[in-house]
Amino acid sequence: MDLERLLSDRLAPAFAAVAGAPVDPVVRRSPRADFQSDAALALARRLGRSPRDLAADVLEHAALDDVCASAEVSGPGFLNLTVSDRALAGLVSGLAGDARLGVPAARAPETVVVDYSAPNVAKEMHVGHLRSTVIGDAAVRLLDWLGHRVVRVNHLGDWGTPFGMLIEHLADLGETEAAHELSVGDLDSFYKAARAKFDADEAFRARSRRRVVALQGGDAPTRRLWRLLVQQSERYFLSVYDLLDVTLTGADFRGESAYNELLADVVDDLDRLGLLAASGGARCVFPPGFTGRDGEPLPLIVRKSDGGFGYPATDLAALRQRTGELGATRLLYVVGLPQQQHFAMVFAVAGAAGWLRPPARAEHLGFGSILGSDGRMLRSRTGGSVKLVGLLEEAVARATDLARAKNPDLDAATAAEIGRVVGIGAVKYADLSTDRARDYVLDWERMLALDGNTAPYLQYAYARIRSVFRRAGAVARPDAPIVLAEPSERALAIELLGFAGVVGRVERSLEFHHLAGHLHRLATAFSGFYERCPVLRAPDELRESRLLLADLTARTLRQGLHLLGIRTLERM
Ligand code: ARG
Repeated sequence: MDLERLLSDRLAPAFAAVAGAPVDPVVRRSPRADFQSDAALALARRLGRSPRDLAADVLEHAALDDVCASAEVSGPGFLNLTVSDRALAGLVSGLAGDARLGVPAARAPETVVVDYSAPNVAKEMHVGHLRSTVIGDAAVRLLDWLGHRVVRVNHLGDWGTPFGMLIEHLADLGETEAAHELSVGDLDSFYKAARAKFDADEAFRARSRRRVVALQGGDAPTRRLWRLLVQQSERYFLSVYDLLDVTLTGADFRGESAYNELLADVVDDLDRLGLLAASGGARCVFPPGFTGRDGEPLPLIVRKSDGGFGYPATDLAALRQRTGELGATRLLYVVGLPQQQHFAMVFAVAGAAGWLRPPARAEHLGFGSILGSDGRMLRSRTGGSVKLVGLLEEAVARATDLARAKNPDLDAATAAEIGRVVGIGAVKYADLSTDRARDYVLDWERMLALDGNTAPYLQYAYARIRSVFRRAGAVARPDAPIVLAEPSERALAIELLGFAGVVGRVERSLEFHHLAGHLHRLATAFSGFYERCPVLRAPDELRESRLLLADLTARTLRQGLHLLGIRTLERM
């Protein structure tokens, strides 16, 4: 049971009795006691009463005796709550026998579509795709664990006018050569070569345009070449997913081309609903509330003046399919913040068209950029965008070197395994532990450090606990009575009991830095406990209790990291 929830459930009826209406007690951790509720302050203002009197009144009505050792009014009208050791011990014992560590499965499971990763065919994956892939995969893991039906969608950029030039370039190179370039992940040079020819050579431009028409018209040889491009790129992306250790598979690709047949229908529907307007030859929707810098209404262009459909129409078709055919009620889009307006407009238009009706809702999980040490957008030495695989390989190499330096006796295979788990974990954790809306600086030393809010710190905390059990040949007995003798044991117990609450909040906000922060606090609390409380040398009853606390910590770290897509190691 989640402690904050428990206290909140106890206070809520008392607040309701005093206020005559439901009130959220807003229980949170407190520097003065274990927890505090500040709700009396706002409520007193509303009722025109003294906050301290009102808080005292709430305490009178609250049934807290079996949970709290003390509950008192403090300061301007806070309620300070100190949980009794007995109650804490009982709740921790409850966790021990629960494979889900106190986290209940969703009461009303939903179908959730997570649109993430979405690289572009014949183009290198860059660090923006890293963020989308890592955040999206964490969302998938967490929602899936909570019992939702999760549909991964990899909205691959596999359609549109650039494919004319890409296919022509492929035909020029010859299929074998082109397949080779693409399979080794030399996507950028392939794309750039096509682009250079397109810019320099009029005849190539003309061929490329004819190719686009042929592709859209379903010309069989053109489609075959296009599929070759897509397949080679997909194979390459899957190798990156494998290195990155994410759950995306080949079955999750559902590129923009998949919606091609639906686009005309989407535009017809918008027309029938009277939502379409003509603007400079294009067909647009002007959703209310969106204006440009000049104050003019902003269009969402659904059909371009050349008759082609584009990115917005594709997203509308995809959305309609997700709520309609897939029956999804929660749509997540893990895409960089520069596309915020695009999604806000797509959601507004979909709402107006009736494709996005409550309870269905769409959320853009936007994210900031990854910066270099100079505080500017991360760039390669030559000034181009940083190739994602290069970055991941560097992480693994650095972590492998660190593992070897720490333990020179490691055999090569073990060092490589540690390097991979720690290096990839560090990259993911650096991403997930910062508020996703913010930019962050890629700082190798910091993210690979064994102390601080890092993956290696948490992985190390886990491995250390496992080694305690190995050394002692001990196992934790889930039914061992919990004894909370020392303040550091109490502090650890409170962190263990906070896991469920954090997971519940992250289910709603999908702000993974809260989960990361919680795991970091848990690992820190464990280290305080471990410094002060002997485990193996403790007298019997304490030893059993402490082993169980250690085991619960390890299980929580492992599960929490797993939700973030980060592996643990039994030895480090
Ligand atoms: N392919 C796009 C890019 O690389 C991202 C697509 C995001 N998803 C979507 N449904 N629009 O920027």
